[in-house]
Amino acid sequence: MTEHPSTTIDDCRIISLEHHPDPYGTLTVAQNSSAIPFAIKRLYYIYDIPSDAERGGHSHHHEQRLLVAVAGCFDVKVCDGVSWRTFTLKRPSEALYIPAGVWRTLENFSAGSVVLALSSTKFDENDYVRDFDKFVKLKKNSD
Ligand code: TYD
Repeated sequence: MTEHPSTTIDDCRIISLEHHPDPYGTLTVAQNSSAIPFAIKRLYYIYDIPSDAERGGHSHHHEQRLLVAVAGCFDVKVCDGVSWRTFTLKRPSEALYIPAGVWRTLENFSAGSVVLALSSTKFDENDYVRDFDKFVKLKKNSD
């Protein structure tokens, strides 16, 4: 069976991004630095999201990700095959770090939500595990 990292939901964490508030607005920066756990290779964003949508629903063999609610708010549920935890993202200056080997679903989107994703890899469908039962089996067999 393909290997899957033995990471857990305890490896997920909120990272405070460098931000510069002033009376005319706040500027937030994400750049490769010791504050970011990986080198950023790709950025994408999701918008026009219906409030009842569920996105995500996958894990990765290698890819690490940061998710940011650059507008609105939504929940990210993470699972390591044993436990679940919910993070509510609502501040554009906060990023949720999700390592490889952790399942995630995104839901409860407020109107006008925009999800910004920063990724450690280019897009590769072969890096995805999109079947939850398969994910749980892979986690049971990880070291
Ligand atoms: P998907 O992974 O299902 O999105 P989410 O996990 O946010 O619900 O991706 C939706 C579609 O976009 C799917 O056909 C794959 C494609 N896609 C790319 O072509 N490039 C990318 O970088 C990403 C993230 C997705």
